[in-house]
Amino acid sequence: MPIRYIPYDKVPVKGQAILNNVTRSQRLLSYTDNNKVYERIQRGIPYYELQELEKVGENSENLIIRGECLSACAYLKEKDIKIDLVYIDPPFASGADYAKKVYIRKNPKLAEKIKKAEEKMEMEELVAFEEKMYGDIWSKEDYLNWMYENLMAIKEIMSETASIYVHLDWHIGHYVKILLDEVFGEENFVNEIIWAYRSGGASKKKSIARKHDSIYFYTNNNENFEINTIKERQYLEKHFIGTQEDENGKIYVDTILTDTLSGVINRVMDNESIKEYSCRPVLNVSKERVDYSTQKPEGLLELLLEIASNKGMIVADFFGGSGVTAKVASDLGRRFIHCDIGINSIQTVRDRLKEAKADFKILEVQDGLNLFRNPIQTMDKLATLIDGLNTKKPEGIDSFWFGTVTNSKFGTIPVYVPDLRDSTKKVLDIVAINEVINKEIHNFNTFDGEVKKVIIYYVDISDIDEIKKFIKDNNQTLIEVEIKDLKQILDFVVIDDSVDFSLNEDGLFYEIEINSFYSDRLKQKIDEYNQKQGLKVKSNYIAISENGLELIEYISLDCTNDSGVWHSNSEVKIDKNGFISIDGTKTREFWSGKINSTSKPKRLKIRNIAGDEIIKILI
Ligand SMILES: C[S@@+](CC[C@H](N)C(=O)[O-])C[C@H]1O[C@@H](n2cnc3c(N)ncnc32)[C@H](O)[C@@H]1O
Repeated sequence: MPIRYIPYDKVPVKGQAILNNVTRSQRLLSYTDNNKVYERIQRGIPYYELQELEKVGENSENLIIRGECLSACAYLKEKDIKIDLVYIDPPFASGADYAKKVYIRKNPKLAEKIKKAEEKMEMEELVAFEEKMYGDIWSKEDYLNWMYENLMAIKEIMSETASIYVHLDWHIGHYVKILLDEVFGEENFVNEIIWAYRSGGASKKKSIARKHDSIYFYTNNNENFEINTIKERQYLEKHFIGTQEDENGKIYVDTILTDTLSGVINRVMDNESIKEYSCRPVLNVSKERVDYSTQKPEGLLELLLEIASNKGMIVADFFGGSGVTAKVASDLGRRFIHCDIGINSIQTVRDRLKEAKADFKILEVQDGLNLFRNPIQTMDKLATLIDGLNTKKPEGIDSFWFGTVTNSKFGTIPVYVPDLRDSTKKVLDIVAINEVINKEIHNFNTFDGEVKKVIIYYVDISDIDEIKKFIKDNNQTLIEVEIKDLKQILDFVVIDDSVDFSLNEDGLFYEIEINSFYSDRLKQKIDEYNQKQGLKVKSNYIAISENGLELIEYISLDCTNDSGVWHSNSEVKIDKNGFISIDGTKTREFWSGKINSTSKPKRLKIRNIAGDEIIKILI
């Protein structure tokens, strides 16, 4: 489906944050390339088709969207869905890559071992390796342009009475505060909420410990906006003005939560005493952990949602991660929209909400970006997939180019691959190709040789014929410009996992036994891990058994298909300790290697421990 653009209706406040009394027609908040984002705003929000992947429960108003924030906003705008409260905890520009620990499960066929594992469960070391989830390494300018576009798109789908929390920290928060002033208006700023932690953020010799995040709170329109005044009972040792006694003679005072918070929310560790706090602190509750780096506690979201939303309202998180916002929204009787670009987030929130007995549907944006788990892993993979690509570039071929390939006819061919981690680079349109042919291909003068050809890969293209014509009409060099579809490379190379199973049925009861499972992707990853261990301790090696069942995290039997949307009727999830949840209910049992259902299964779905899924159609 060709890309469509949905126009922005709302106008930013244009540089209001900069003190200057001259009326301006242009933004004054100025950083390198900050005007580029204007071209994109003028073009509109890129809209792609969404495919409905799964329906859980009956209520289909709650949404989990796999895709980018921008795409989710385009969809919501197109469907005229308005959001009452937004919480976002986007990448912080922290300069780090975030990884997920992938745990090898217990193998159900090795009964002896399981029994032993059961006996010494507490002591047993879990075997794990890491997989990259998302990257957070940006130049400030790229980050701010990207964030500006996201904030503009989010504003488009906020209701008149809506408000927004933007959770950041010292890395980039103060710059984004200025963008927020620009997008929402300084008069709509409500407060900067400090989320303070006592642990972590250790001080370095030359610094004071950085132990807080900032949550910028804005309303869409301060005339329509009111927060909830939540009363909280606070118990005290002695009587003060306004104190009373309860039926047990305990001294208390009724306070307004938003007054006692004084803009500071304290994070308290599980084992810490919370008595000394004057307002409701947020426990960092370990039992909530779903092994998602940067996961925020439910208590924090509870406070934020209680203050700025009511039952039945729609709460959206466009950088949803572990799904904490959706989970809390569901618990508090709000409707929710969770969006995230990474497959691990979608699977984590799906399972988390299933356990919470929430209803929702899962949609996937068809923008070609979710090619291999997440953009960062796709980029890593790409480097190895383009035939003959050398990412070590010769002098004179600058960082615009991803690498070079060499052939006898053309010699060195610079290759451009859009950086999938920066969604603004995704579409090859006239603006992007203009930059290539009128700027980049003129820059080879220090290269020791002649460039006769360049290759430009794209994930999405505005109009291929228009782009080709533009190149023909405007390329004033002799350098040939070839454009190629990146998706074909990835589609070709990702090899699916394979499974061998047997189905036993008696007309009333259906049982599938998994005999063996093989994942080439995981095998490669584990081989890499073992190779690294080779330099250290050999006993840390991860050995995969012959039947490979320890590589399975989740398995479902889907028996219902409503107009193309699947519904799982029976599912087993194996946690990192080997215990299973059956249909979203936790147990202390180990997986038997089987799954059963009382309806005839139409398909079998298996997710491996890194999140790759395979589907086997049974009838
Ligand atoms: C800091 S984490 C959010 C953590 C979350 N608040 C929690 O408590 O689990 C940021 C998330 O943004 C996602 N992300 C990064 N770029 C994105 C984009 N353009 N659109 C949607 N999600 C994105 C990442 O995959 C990651 O899960």
